[in-house]
Amino acid sequence: MTEMLLKITKNYGSPLYVYDSAKIISQYNRLKNAFSSVANLKLNYAAKALSNISVLKLFNSLGSGLDTVSIQEVKLGLKAGFAPESMIFTPNGVSLQEIEEVAEMGVQINIDNLSILEQFGTKHPKVPVCIRINPHVMAGGNTNISVGHIDSKFGISIHQIPLLLRIVENTGMNINGIHMHTGSDILDIDVFLYASEILFETAKNFKNLDFIDFGSGFKVPYKTGDIETNIEELGEKLSKRFNEFCSSYGKELTLAFEPGKFLVSEAGVFLAKVNVVKQTTSTVFAQIDSGFNHLIRPMLYGSQHEIINISNPEGRERFYSVVGYICETDTFANNRRISEINEGDILCFKNAGAYCFTMASNYNSRYRPAEVLIHNGEAHLIRERETFEDILNKQVEIDI
Ligand SMILES: Cc1ncc(COP(=O)(O)O)c(C=O)c1O
Repeated sequence: MTEMLLKITKNYGSPLYVYDSAKIISQYNRLKNAFSSVANLKLNYAAKALSNISVLKLFNSLGSGLDTVSIQEVKLGLKAGFAPESMIFTPNGVSLQEIEEVAEMGVQINIDNLSILEQFGTKHPKVPVCIRINPHVMAGGNTNISVGHIDSKFGISIHQIPLLLRIVENTGMNINGIHMHTGSDILDIDVFLYASEILFETAKNFKNLDFIDFGSGFKVPYKTGDIETNIEELGEKLSKRFNEFCSSYGKELTLAFEPGKFLVSEAGVFLAKVNVVKQTTSTVFAQIDSGFNHLIRPMLYGSQHEIINISNPEGRERFYSVVGYICETDTFANNRRISEINEGDILCFKNAGAYCFTMASNYNSRYRPAEVLIHNGEAHLIRERETFEDILNKQVEIDI
């Protein structure tokens, strides 16, 4: 793989995102197999994690659905070939108008506040709606990605179920699904199982459900030997409990998930070239031709991406601080053991498939990187590197 990545970088330049479709497919199948004892399983890939149209087309070809959070993601999904009914729209704090436009397209709507629920239900009582519940469970690897607790802006509180039911009854609307998403990077499967019980309890209030959506948040390994959510054990336990619930509910419901990170994180790498090796009195910096404009997760979430010097993988290991070229502190790794780095070497950042390119920006007026997908053993360019025209695009120059 190292040789292939070096060759790809030589062809397409750096910095560069590279994804491996084989890994995406194996993760998709792994999740599907873990829940094989459930009759109706629906995996809706969370587009926000990595929304390149070729990646979306790959998911569509696997039979996946699509989880979307903006009308733009819905449009991308349609362009990638997803049928409207295989998509779910799970926005937060968007306008009634945006929700109506997406509903008009035939996409399943998921509403996460009572104000919009009442307005939507009053105007469109016949459109089936899923509701996002906030189960008040503290879960997730970082405060920014813990979204199911009591202070969180997401979802309708379980304590507001009486008011929710009153709105449903008064408007005569049809609730066909209930949903929760409590956070990302959740390791402990007991947290999922505990929150699921709250969802089952809530589900009993609704007589016309077609599905229960358990969101996502599975933790993936960030380095060799790292701990991850035990998907197989979760699959076994939650499937059993789900099937029991369906028996008592009297209907074979669909069990839905909307994973992002689990499906694409490990499939991606970020490749950057070392511009400068700079020794100071306290450390040795390896400064790459990128920064948090291209990979913001270490600065935003304190996430630790494993870094390998693929130009010198067998070299003697030394300690480095890997930083970028941005005009603010943009540290990717502190005091990290990496094979000896020389200027011009290519560093490979692992786990760069999810929330990396999609969070990239033009900060410092830099171009966003190119993206490559390795599919059936061949490297395909799936996004060109930006150019100066892209930086100027949509800017309006006035006479001054
Ligand atoms: C509502 C919702 N569903 C699914 C996801 C995907 O989560 P993950 O990437 O942890 O699988 C997110 C992530 O932010 C989300 O907010």
